[in-house]
Amino acid sequence: MSLHLEARVSDPTAGGLENLLSEDRRFPPSAEFAAQANASADLYSWANADRPAFWGEQARELLTWSTPFEQTLDWSDAPVARWFADGRLNAAYNAVDRHVEAGRGDKVALHFEGEGGDTRTLTYADLQREVSRAANALTSLGVTTGDRVAVYLPMIPEAVVTMLACARIGAPHSVVFGGFSAEALHSRILDAEAKLVVTADGGFRRGAASALKPAVDEALAKGAPSVEHVLVVKRTGQPVEWTEGRDVWWSDVVDTASDEHTPVDVEAEHPLFILYTSGTTGKPKGIFHTTGGYLAQAAYTHLNVFDLKAETDVYWCTADVGWITGHTYVVYGPLVNGATQVIYEGTPDTPHRGRWWEIVQKYGVTILYTAPTAIRTCMKWGEEIPAQFDLSSLRVLGSVGEPINPEAWMWYRRVVGGDRAPIVDTWWQTETGAIMISPLPGVTETKPGSAQVPLPGIAADVVDDEAHSVPDGSGGYLVLTEPWPAMLRGIWGDRQRYVDTYWSRFRGLYFAGDGAKKDEDGDIWLLGRVDDVMNVSGHRLSTTEIESALVSHPWVAEAAVVGAADETTGQAVVAFVILRGDSEAGDLPAQDVQTTLRNHVAKEIGPIAKPRQVLVVAELPKTRSGKIMRRLLRDVAENRQVGDATTLADSSVMDLIAQGLSTPA
Ligand code: WT7
Repeated sequence: MSLHLEARVSDPTAGGLENLLSEDRRFPPSAEFAAQANASADLYSWANADRPAFWGEQARELLTWSTPFEQTLDWSDAPVARWFADGRLNAAYNAVDRHVEAGRGDKVALHFEGEGGDTRTLTYADLQREVSRAANALTSLGVTTGDRVAVYLPMIPEAVVTMLACARIGAPHSVVFGGFSAEALHSRILDAEAKLVVTADGGFRRGAASALKPAVDEALAKGAPSVEHVLVVKRTGQPVEWTEGRDVWWSDVVDTASDEHTPVDVEAEHPLFILYTSGTTGKPKGIFHTTGGYLAQAAYTHLNVFDLKAETDVYWCTADVGWITGHTYVVYGPLVNGATQVIYEGTPDTPHRGRWWEIVQKYGVTILYTAPTAIRTCMKWGEEIPAQFDLSSLRVLGSVGEPINPEAWMWYRRVVGGDRAPIVDTWWQTETGAIMISPLPGVTETKPGSAQVPLPGIAADVVDDEAHSVPDGSGGYLVLTEPWPAMLRGIWGDRQRYVDTYWSRFRGLYFAGDGAKKDEDGDIWLLGRVDDVMNVSGHRLSTTEIESALVSHPWVAEAAVVGAADETTGQAVVAFVILRGDSEAGDLPAQDVQTTLRNHVAKEIGPIAKPRQVLVVAELPKTRSGKIMRRLLRDVAENRQVGDATTLADSSVMDLIAQGLSTPA
């Protein structure tokens, strides 16, 4: 594994991380907020006294168990944890039915806002009927407990309903973000051996219908023997190809199914879902989470980090259900806590750049959870846009997905939060399942740009190369030092890869892949990835995966990809390619080569992986052992003086690259 910690820590990265370590603004909680906050400083001492017992309390308090557990943590098979293992429960029952049974059936669960302005409101009672129908339909399509279901849907209520229907019958879902390609979908379907794929004709994006079903057809045409049926939601009404016997319309099987269904009781350690994420190799990792521990930490963090008051708050997390944020903070956390939330199908600038703020005003959103990229984009559009809307309902603001630079943090606080709403910068990962490091609103004095402290019940540290805890004021690698309830239980079908990826760099410690620094107060500042993983708009992309996509094109002999600092997206993908001597590309204008290769990556992986630039070079900088020195390429991509190149096998390579780039095409 290549670690370039120093490069990142000293590099000026997106939007002013360079200023971050001298940031000295402080925002203590207001007395009014603190007086009504769910969390208090006592949580830290309580959790520290006996961490497993603390989590046991949370799990009992926040969830309904059909069989109560006696055991809390079983770490005897480390690094695979078992939490609450002798207990039984059902996730969908916890997210839906119990609220109806408690007399809250008429409470709104989802305010759905379609991109085109169509809306739907689902109460908890509606959700119970919908989820029950879908669970019955899944069963009629042959899906049983333990079978995997791939979900490839836009952000529409059916996505939430499908995930909960899977949970209801104990069939782990594997949601694949709708922006991923047929190729990406195919490899995920194969890896999980999904029995059913749930999709839609399409969704609305940037004012137009964007098809999804053709990607499913293409994926299955590549061969997917496990798939028996494709369940298709009609969303856009666009024409679809149909495979008789395999494809079924949602309206035919779900809408007509019985709305009564008994949730399947599962063990706490029953797999709830698989979610693929990019790692340092080309093959995405199927991160899998189980039921009891995941739900306990999802509910606990959602309640305390966002100070949720289920009766009065209107919560909105802008993430797509295709990402972990959508799993934990759109589906499971808020619904288990009985919240009322908004879900929005489209982009923030359709049909105008005030769309998000219009939604906040319309529904009276009180808690907003979004990504720094979105905040920076809104900053770029100008503060006169949010100023046209009434945002005074907002009382807590969350940030997730990438480091938030102090400028964006301050803008978020002032323009969106009216200098009033506390900001929680939440650090976590697909693997951690739920928030791990974050201020607690009403408790923590916040610092712009820092995620600050591990939550009560969570143990994290920053260590040096030899796994020693670094002193305050120093940087190193972020590690998690104790098991936590929502931790991944592994990589689907590959225990060894799980051990190698997360537990081998530092013995007995979970290595997150992030660089971090502890300030003089011991607060943690995240500094970005230290492995070959990029973070583009809060989405994780693997350099290796994009390189593989590039070399799969007949023109490309070799490729190297780096994440270069980008003002809006945090990092942007920049690719360096060597063309094959015999390819026709040599005769084409550089612009055409670039466009073709960018589109090729979009087709292979998805539009989010499309390189910002593709630079054709004659050589790539390599060490004597043949390893590409991405650090040097990043210098080029960020228009910086190229750093120390003495370990290159051929030190003239960087000059060649620089010359090539300065020569007009
Ligand atoms: C990586 C995990 C967690 C849901 C969204 C991303 C980066 C995440 C923060 C934050 C700095 C952050 C890390 C992490 N990251 N949140 N608040 N500050 N960096 O989930 O796709 O699994 O990516 O996102 O680099 O390792 P993911």
